[in-house]
Amino acid sequence: MRNQFIGLAIVTSLALIILSLYFPWVWWSFALVGPVIALGISDLLDKKHTLRNNFPVLGALRYVMEDLRPKIYQYFIESETDGAPINRMYRSIVYQRAKGALSTNPFGTKIDVYQDGYEWANHSMHPINHTELDEHPRVLIGGSDCKQPYSSSILNVSAMSYGALSNRAIEALNGGAKLGNFAHNTGEGSISQFHLKHGGDLIWQIGTGYFGCRNKDGTFNEDMFKEKATQEQVKMIEIKMSQGAKPGHGGILPAIKNTKEIAAIRAVEPHTRVDSPPAHSAFSNPIELMHFIKKLRDLSDGKPVGFKLCVGNKIEFTDLCIAMQNTGITPDFITVDGGEGGTGAAPLEFSNSIGMPLRDGLAFVCDSLRGYDLKKEIKVLASGKILTGFHVFRAFALGADACYSARGMMLALGCIQALECHSNHCPTGIATQQNHLIKGLNVTDKKVRVAKFHNETVNSFVEFMGATGVNAIGKIKRHHVYRRINQEQIKTYAEIYPNIKVGEYA
Ligand SMILES: Cc1cc2nc3c(=O)[nH]c(=O)nc-3n(C[C@H](O)[C@H](O)[C@H](O)COP(=O)(O)O)c2cc1C
Repeated sequence: MRNQFIGLAIVTSLALIILSLYFPWVWWSFALVGPVIALGISDLLDKKHTLRNNFPVLGALRYVMEDLRPKIYQYFIESETDGAPINRMYRSIVYQRAKGALSTNPFGTKIDVYQDGYEWANHSMHPINHTELDEHPRVLIGGSDCKQPYSSSILNVSAMSYGALSNRAIEALNGGAKLGNFAHNTGEGSISQFHLKHGGDLIWQIGTGYFGCRNKDGTFNEDMFKEKATQEQVKMIEIKMSQGAKPGHGGILPAIKNTKEIAAIRAVEPHTRVDSPPAHSAFSNPIELMHFIKKLRDLSDGKPVGFKLCVGNKIEFTDLCIAMQNTGITPDFITVDGGEGGTGAAPLEFSNSIGMPLRDGLAFVCDSLRGYDLKKEIKVLASGKILTGFHVFRAFALGADACYSARGMMLALGCIQALECHSNHCPTGIATQQNHLIKGLNVTDKKVRVAKFHNETVNSFVEFMGATGVNAIGKIKRHHVYRRINQEQIKTYAEIYPNIKVGEYA
């Protein structure tokens, strides 16, 4: 194709030059032909891409098509139940609820209810009208050592840092949290002025990089921690042990997103890639973790302190329970994130193939806490594709006390799942630090959408719970949810995840 291109380019150029001697307006055609020939010449000189070098111009089109492929798929081909990581049906319901648009569904379910793995809840012949139920349920987080327990919504904004997200996205999430009276987890990138501007409740997350409370060598700094943790707006502290999308891998802030301002907030070098270490330096075994929890609780003047993890090696979690028993120190809450969880940037192997999925991890954590008789002190929060009232109900059936949503909240902000969070080119101005993209994100409008999504989802959960005949969250049990195992077998969660008696392991 190289020779054909060279021949065609020479013949076309000569023909146009000759024609333009007779018809001067033909010169204008070079405005079209010129860039194509220039692209072909640059392809001929390209020594990195075989395809472009072998097939000038046509080879370059491949890269354009590759870029367009997900967009064409999303807009023209994708069915309601297609699309990953979040399918179109769930993206649409979040958009509808965020906008306050009609969110009922015509003509019946689009899910194949006979497929293996299909899950549903059993309804009651005596459903309860949602108006008779607590329409704004809350849960009190804080064990007996906590001086400032927090009354939390059952759905909150999951950890996403300023850095992964733009300043306006952070503002809109926090503004939404304020409007809807729920909490906003800062993510591991510390607390910025954008978290503070709207006054929404904060859960301050501390990762292995100790951003916002670190010494120059990256170790934990008590004074910096105390100063931030005692702020009125900070309601709880979450130590990040791991995250479902990349357990065993520290956070990644790509250099392109590490602006001067973000670097100052985190106390790191600007314009460099910031990889948090995979493990904490403030503790190195379960007993030390318990003492670290106590230290943070004391430094924060008795606020609830918990940790987030994606379940990995089960015996290690059991060791934590034993350390809680031996030290008498318990976290106030544990957040269980599923392997299906989202991220701004992670290696594919980590996203695809490490970490227990939410339902299995959540059941295991709740069972372990019950078995060691620790559950009474500790609330369990769940995250991992919790987007609808049923998802909340399912998490409660397994033993959760409250839920988090990250990508649901991003969708409420207007995320179109362009899958560009890691590239700094997010077209909706949410997961980017490019000002011209951020400019389009209207905080005043989006914070209302975040609050509406939260409110409608909680409403749908309460209505759903009423349909099952259950009148309080604590009465949602594993036997309420069914799963089709295969074409011959259906099991309840109670059969799949048999209940452990309180104190059974103690
Ligand atoms: C853009 C983005 C940034 C995230 N940043 C963090 C983080 O800083 N710390 C953390 O623990 N989890 C982080 N997560 C994970 C979420 O908090 C959450 O655990 C996970 O996405 C599962 O919830 P989801 O399915 O509702 O998204 C991030 C997720 C996304 C999408």
